[in-house]
Amino acid sequence: MKRVAILISGGGSNMVALVRSMTGDHPARPVLVAANDPAAAGLARAREMGIPTAAVDHRAFGRDRAGFEAELLKPLLAAAPDILCLAGFMRVLSPEFVARFAGRMLNIHPSLLPRYPGLHTHQRALDAGDAQAGCTVHQVTADLDAGPILGQARVPVLPGDSAATLAARILAQEHLLYPAVLRRFAAGDRRPILLG
Ligand code: GAR
Repeated sequence: MKRVAILISGGGSNMVALVRSMTGDHPARPVLVAANDPAAAGLARAREMGIPTAAVDHRAFGRDRAGFEAELLKPLLAAAPDILCLAGFMRVLSPEFVARFAGRMLNIHPSLLPRYPGLHTHQRALDAGDAQAGCTVHQVTADLDAGPILGQARVPVLPGDSAATLAARILAQEHLLYPAVLRRFAAGDRRPILLG
């Protein structure tokens, strides 16, 4: 059975989808949910589901990213995950941190990578006049939002869409895509999953 830790920053809806998926014949189980913000709503949701949680407030470290990451590593290493899932985790991780989990760290990003790495993805898709948008699950490498793609889900951009309506349509697909990719990845299969 593979052990999965999940890093979040906010509401944690993707984390909830991942945790709920890891039952029955799923080859993995959740062992830790950690956040960079003690007020992240997802921490309470994780506790309600019986998952151990940890919080390391990045603001206490100012510009000392190495110090923040060293503190974050403590509960993570104690949980001994085989797979680390970033699920709405909004801090950039150093190459040194990423190297510790090389080949076993996943991220979900709300765009059809390689389009729109970084922030404000939905507005950028609207501004570009794209007919389709979506989300991507990829392996995390030292380059931001650029690792090997493990799955994508597409949605149409509809007339009258705002960044908020597009984000909601994509988020529903994120909740399908990420669990599907994690299940396949935990079973050792890295063929990409394409939805939509
Ligand atoms: C999701 O849309 C996720 O793709 C995005 O943040 C949201 C988190 O929602 N992630 C990023 O933008 C990463 N750069 P959630 O906390 O409800 O899962």
